[in-house]
Amino acid sequence: MTLIESDEQERDIDMKVVIIGGTGLIGSKLVTTLRERGDHAVAASPDTGVNTLTGQGLAEVLQGASVVVDVSNSPSFEDKAVMEFFTTSTRNLLEHAADAGVKHYVALSVVGTGRIPDSGYLQAKNAQETLIRGAGIPYSIVHATQFFEFINRIADEATDGTTVRLPPILIQPMAADDVAEAVGRIAVGEPLNGTVDIAGPEQFRFDELIRLSLRARTDPREVVVDPRARYFGAELDERSLIPAGEARLGEIRFREWLGQRVATASRSR
Ligand SMILES: NC(=O)c1ccc[n+]([C@@H]2O[C@H](COP(=O)([O-])OP(=O)(O)OC[C@H]3O[C@@H](n4cnc5c(N)ncnc54)[C@H](OP(=O)(O)O)[C@@H]3O)[C@@H](O)[C@H]2O)c1
Repeated sequence: MTLIESDEQERDIDMKVVIIGGTGLIGSKLVTTLRERGDHAVAASPDTGVNTLTGQGLAEVLQGASVVVDVSNSPSFEDKAVMEFFTTSTRNLLEHAADAGVKHYVALSVVGTGRIPDSGYLQAKNAQETLIRGAGIPYSIVHATQFFEFINRIADEATDGTTVRLPPILIQPMAADDVAEAVGRIAVGEPLNGTVDIAGPEQFRFDELIRLSLRARTDPREVVVDPRARYFGAELDERSLIPAGEARLGEIRFREWLGQRVATASRSR
């Protein structure tokens, strides 16, 4: 099923939707998408006086909210820090959401959280999901694949000198615009009380994707397939990063997105 074909639910157009992490990459797009549809979307982050780690501002911002969408991210990806971020902030958020009578709790997570046990980041996302499932608030967990916008960071992380070493696996990345569109539709729909996978419209070999990305930026790094290479410290098998079953697919294709990015960058030079 594509995102366009997804069912648009009947809904209350005055619904207050609080976006935790509403100033971030996905959060800011989500706020715009929901406002364009006529929803009362409120961005919440430390910049707007809301801190999920300390609880500051949560009671106030959640007052009268029907839906809370958590698209926040940890400032540090170090194993201990990321676990502390997702467990503490999720506990605080769930407690305040229950007090405020929130009817739908939505969180953005990652495809493969349960399948990659040696990734500290994914263990923390898994812990976040477990807290949500056990909290008793109707919920939807959205598992997304890697964002196009994250691909540079993947290349940098896998770089050894002038070589990028990648395991021989499949990847099905998606544009942040498609992620925000999908999360927005799910947020205004009925709670799934389960998980839905979303992904990009095409699968790539990991090396092929990174090579395309580097070439478009005339980046001279050489891409090498290395079965011993790890992904952010984790060992992956061929299908670890792609949805295991059915997924809702975005529409934006990587080559088109990349072409637009490169054109915009050269115009602004
Ligand atoms: N990157 C990927 O490829 C990928 C794939 C699948 C799923 N995801 C998930 O997508 C989600 C969103 O990622 P993103 O790239 O949009 O993140 P991002 O751009 O880094 O934005 C993170 C947001 O979280 C906010 N935040 C940080 N600390 C906070 C705190 N203590 N209290 C409240 N808000 C806080 C930030 O606010 P400030 O700017 O004010 O600090 C910002 O608005 C993450 O949960 C990630 O796990 C990512």
